[in-house]
This record gives sequence, C-alpha cells and structure tokens, in this order.
Amino acid sequence: MPPPKPHRFPPGKTLPEELRIAMKRIEAYGVVYPDGYYQALLEKYTREEVRYPHILMIIGQPRINNHFFYPHVLRRTGRLLDYGCGTGDNVRQLLRDGFPREMITAFDINRASIDLGFDLYCDQGEISDLFTVSGTLTFGPAKFEMVYSASVFHVIADDQEFGTYIANAWSVLRPGGIFFGSTLGQAGEAAAPSPEEWGPPRVMTKEQLAGSLTGAGFVSPEIVQRHHVPHYIADNRCVFEFCTRKPA
Ligand SMILES: C[S@@+](CC[C@H](N)C(=O)[O-])C[C@H]1O[C@@H](n2cnc3c(N)ncnc32)[C@H](O)[C@@H]1O
Repeated sequence: MPPPKPHRFPPGKTLPEELRIAMKRIEAYGVVYPDGYYQALLEKYTREEVRYPHILMIIGQPRINNHFFYPHVLRRTGRLLDYGCGTGDNVRQLLRDGFPREMITAFDINRASIDLGFDLYCDQGEISDLFTVSGTLTFGPAKFEMVYSASVFHVIADDQEFGTYIANAWSVLRPGGIFFGSTLGQAGEAAAPSPEEWGPPRVMTKEQLAGSLTGAGFVSPEIVQRHHVPHYIADNRCVFEFCTRKPA
C-alpha cells in the first residue's frame, strides 16, 4: 500500500483563496454569511487543516445532477444512500431537485468533510439528521434501492478496504437495486497511482473498473468516460461515470 499522502493544496492553490472562492459559489445558492464569517472559517481551517483540500476546491459544484443515470434517479422511488458523501453537495442537489427527503441517507467514515459542508452552507440545523458517520457501514442488508458513490473509489488506496466498500454497496442494496457514481480514471492502458502527491491513489482503467464491479457480483455495468477538468492533475486522467445493477 502506498504511504498516505499529505493533505496539502496543490501548487498555486491556497486555503484563503479557495475558501473565498468556495463561499462565493455557495452564496449563489442563496446562503448569506454573517459579517466576519470568512475570517472565522479561515482561522478554523488554518488551525485544523482541510482533510481533503480538493473537496474545498469543488464544494458548491455537485456532480450527481450531471450523471447519465440522474434523470432515472428522479423518477424512481425507494431509498438512496450517498456512500462517501463528503460535504453533502450531492444530497443538497437531490433536495433542490425534489427527491423525497425521507428517502435520502448520507454516510461517510469521516466527519470533517460533512462539517465543512455545514460550515459553508450554514444548514446543519436543517439537514444534519440525513448524515451518518461511522468507521464501518452501519446499515443492514437490502435497505436501499440506489447507492451513489462519487469520487470515493479513487481515494481508497488499500485494496482490502476498496473490496469491502464495493461489497458493502452490494450488501445494502436490495435485489434489483442500482449502484451508480463516478471515479477518476485513466483512459488507455496503463493505470498507475498518481506520482504527484496531489493525485488520487487509485486510478483504474475502464476495464479495471468494470472488473471491480462485476467481481463483486454486479451486472451489466455501463461506464461512460467524461473529460476531467484538471484542477491540478497534469496527466491524462478522465472521469468514469458508472451504473450497474444487483441482480433481482
Ligand atoms: C473526494 S471525497 C468525495 C465526496 C463526495 N462524494 C463528493 O462527490 O463530493 C471522498 C469521500 O469518500 C470518503 N471515504 C473514503 N473511504 C471511504 C469508505 N471506505 N467508506 C465510506 N466513505 C469513504 C471520504 O471520507 C471522503 O469524504
């Protein structure tokens, strides 16, 4: 297993600037910050560090609504788990789009990104009940109709943890349920961990991604390659959106 990478901003990116930009993005959703709020957050995150700096660089830009399966999500009924929800950007997008609140569960092993979301959206009092944080997935089998996983595969360096993550997605889905999401990948043949300290530790080809899903028992994986707008990764990474099914 590669050693864990430090939680640093990539070259040219700084906490003060990324925080300012993130707050501007979120103000566009109608959030109004009190006087001095930027300075207070800057001091907090200078003290505590941002667990995944990249998350601050993308907060306020949910991706679930661009996923090729999303129109079907909005038409389906049943419970949805956002597995590795981070700041909760995608949960808020589901709510904005009218997905039933009582059908949404967001889970993460790390509270820091969820709290970053609450800090920036100032909505902890309204939606904290949707979020669960635990070291292990706490839901029983066949609880969900859909499991969504955005940018989680590529942050899991350890093969065993990665296998457990996909096996958990399988377990909590009811038969016939849908597992969909996205991960950074590599177009072409070679897939290697990022040599630079800012890149993701797990970079799969389309075939490796398909193999990971079918290896866990999922069927008919559909994988769409999207252009990756590199914030900092100076190579030929792409985004793979995937959608696959647990057999009925
Ligand atoms: C790059 S962030 C993406 C967050 C969010 N899904 C999004 O699209 O903005 C990756 C998230 O996966 C979570 N994560 C990593 N390993 C996990 C695991 N084994 N189970 C659940 N979540 C995990 C991290 O804590 C982090 O919040």
